[in-house]
Amino acid sequence: MVNQVVWHGGQIYQAAMRRKRPVKSIVDFSASINPLGPPSSVLRAIRKHLSDCRYYPDSQGMALRNRLAEFHGVSPEFITLGNGSAELIRLLPWALGIRCGYVLGPTFMEFERALQLAGARSLSLHGDAVKGYPVPLEQLDRILRSVPRPFSKAQSRAKAQGRKSAVFVCNPNSPTGRVIPRSQLLQLCGELEELGIWVVVDEAFMDFVPSHSVLSQVPHHRQLVVLRSFTKFYGMPGIRLGYVVGPPGAMQGIQAHLPPWSVSHIAQVAGVAALADDGFRRQTLQFTRVTRTQFLRDLQTIPEVRVYPSRVNFVMVELPNVCSMVQLVEWLEQHGILVRDCRTFSGICNSTIRLAVRRPSENARLVRLLKRFIQNSYEDKA
Ligand SMILES: Cc1ncc(COP(=O)(O)O)c(C=O)c1O
Repeated sequence: MVNQVVWHGGQIYQAAMRRKRPVKSIVDFSASINPLGPPSSVLRAIRKHLSDCRYYPDSQGMALRNRLAEFHGVSPEFITLGNGSAELIRLLPWALGIRCGYVLGPTFMEFERALQLAGARSLSLHGDAVKGYPVPLEQLDRILRSVPRPFSKAQSRAKAQGRKSAVFVCNPNSPTGRVIPRSQLLQLCGELEELGIWVVVDEAFMDFVPSHSVLSQVPHHRQLVVLRSFTKFYGMPGIRLGYVVGPPGAMQGIQAHLPPWSVSHIAQVAGVAALADDGFRRQTLQFTRVTRTQFLRDLQTIPEVRVYPSRVNFVMVELPNVCSMVQLVEWLEQHGILVRDCRTFSGICNSTIRLAVRRPSENARLVRLLKRFIQNSYEDKA
């Protein structure tokens, strides 16, 4: 049975309608979007090309794919564009013929959802809450090792029948902010490849820690697929632009499942401009590092709160049990602030929220409000 509702952050239009206030007056910590974006170079390029909307977009997206190919050092036939990486995630199980997916969680819920919609089995492995939700690589390893021969036999039989398996991993992971070192992930890819299992790595947040990307290794693996997004780092969620990098045969399968012209010309132009903007990338990396450090420090001054380490542009925070999450989310929304309640991620069992790293004054205001809410919660209980 497929869940009808999958919650995501960034529901800013609904919140604006509920609160009868302008969208611009809402400060969104619930979707982890770089507050410096979109780059002014992207806005300039969009303005310049607006009147091109009289033509259909290039259905092959060649200009952007060529730039991406140069940027990542892979050939264009390894790259397929999508209307956001979410579109590509939905298609992957169909396009690769995946019948069973191991989802390393707690993580982005769209992997489970895509598997369910494709009628595939979805098995979620969850990192231990007490240990701070490490990516459950050991658990996966145990599953694969505990039944090595039957498993691999079953795998080859399944493969022969076109019933393939895949491991879905988000690196850096959302909502936990955990990063799997590149060498560890590549080792896993090698091991899984031996078993004929696909590895799908969602690198939506990888621009914040580019040295851990496995994307450049795709041409050296038969069954590695990497997803990327322009949404988070370039701060342009409304444009809808993502891409997938994988073996050309798999890319043809994905293209066959995509609707024609799914990526608009404006999105393609925006992508080309974003990639050319080295200055924006440098500025974002510096800004995020400094602002996150201060935000984490300030959050740690709130009594009884557990702040998870983060290498990216969001942070996961666990609140004391005395806090009602429903009331907190509602109360913050009344103050024009959205946060992501993490209890809708399968595998998250505590009162946990995910907060984007925003501008320093916005972060400081949220910390003050959280302190006040927690203090009031204790007083109400006393
Ligand atoms: C981990 C992760 N992957 C992929 C996506 C989808 O991003 P988009 O479709 O905007 O590229 C999101 C969006 O929230 C995400 O958090």
